[in-house]
Amino acid sequence: MKFYQLEPEARRKLLQDEGIALGQIDDTVLRRLDELSENVVGQLRLPLGVVQNLIVNGQKYWVPMAVEEPSVVAAANHGASIFARNGGVTASSDRQGIYGQIVLKVNASFSLIGLEKEFPKLVELVNQKFTSLVRHGGGVKKITAVQKENLLYLKVLVDPAEAMGANKTNSILEFLATKLEAHAGIDEKLFAILSNYPSQLTTVKVKIDPETIGGLQVARRVALLGKIGLDDPYRAVTNNKGIMNGADAVLIATGNDYRAIEAATAVLANHDGQYRSLSKWTMQGSYLVGELTLPMAIGVVGGSIKARHDVQQSFAILGQKITSKTLAEIIVSVALANNLAALLAISTVGIQAGHMKLQARNVVAELTDNEHERKQLLAAMISEKNYSESHAKELLAKIRKEK
Ligand code: MEV
Repeated sequence: MKFYQLEPEARRKLLQDEGIALGQIDDTVLRRLDELSENVVGQLRLPLGVVQNLIVNGQKYWVPMAVEEPSVVAAANHGASIFARNGGVTASSDRQGIYGQIVLKVNASFSLIGLEKEFPKLVELVNQKFTSLVRHGGGVKKITAVQKENLLYLKVLVDPAEAMGANKTNSILEFLATKLEAHAGIDEKLFAILSNYPSQLTTVKVKIDPETIGGLQVARRVALLGKIGLDDPYRAVTNNKGIMNGADAVLIATGNDYRAIEAATAVLANHDGQYRSLSKWTMQGSYLVGELTLPMAIGVVGGSIKARHDVQQSFAILGQKITSKTLAEIIVSVALANNLAALLAISTVGIQAGHMKLQARNVVAELTDNEHERKQLLAAMISEKNYSESHAKELLAKIRKEK
């Protein structure tokens, strides 16, 4: 039997027989996870934090974030609280659909004009076949084509309704490709697969009164950092990492494909041939204005979303009736909140002050299991502003001696 065909318990035993120490796992949980993925031998858990008060288009949300870095959740909350003091963010989305790509080999007898005449009929044919998608408000919207020598590039725009739509789009593309292969002048299909090119774009904007972030000088520094991020790729990539801190944590919490978003985001950051910040921060009159557009090919149904209890918990936090458009707008707002918090920290006190204080909890957790000692040790580290492990060990020894 191949490894992937084994029961998960048998896979675990095989690893254990090789001397690999695996963590405990409940049998029912193991079985459930085995249904979700491949070669499953265990589970990896992430803490679920929340953003407390994110205001998007006048509506207040609790937002789940799955991430191991405490400063990411703290930053999102800090940014969101500043947004809230300024009336929240406004968001808008252009959710036309996601792209699929079919590339075919053509010969000298092929006529692009002839094929283009068939497109409306092909769209209709696909939408008749994929009726459930159409019933949910989606379907194929448009097919366009470009010929480069003997290669024909088809771009198919699919509205996936409330799902991310990767699987459905791939099925549609493969169905379309078989129909196209029968067309005169087309020799063979090279591939038919969705494209992760940026689509489903969401833009959020916030207008900040400098008084809510420490004054005009701070606001001007944030705007200057924004400008540097647009000019300098070394800064831009770090700025964008801060943005993805927020976006990825919500994407993971809601069971969405963060790899697809990361890939699309890199294209957007490079749209004019130079890698730039995805966010823009400028002084407009006496206000600091922040703006961010991200590609959000995400869903609230489909994939493993319904099957995962942990993900369903996230949707309960967000509000069960949430649409993919609203979720996209929430994610981009959190991303901008993380970005603002990072810019404020690095343009004033630096990030280490807050960062180390939060990381101190991890140091403490490694040194003692005793709840009382943990509290005492953390308080001592914070009051002395020294978060190193060696210093923590000394402090713990002192606490124990004094006991
Ligand atoms: C750290 O995870 C993210 C930051 O480096 C982002 C930034 O510099 O803008 C703080």
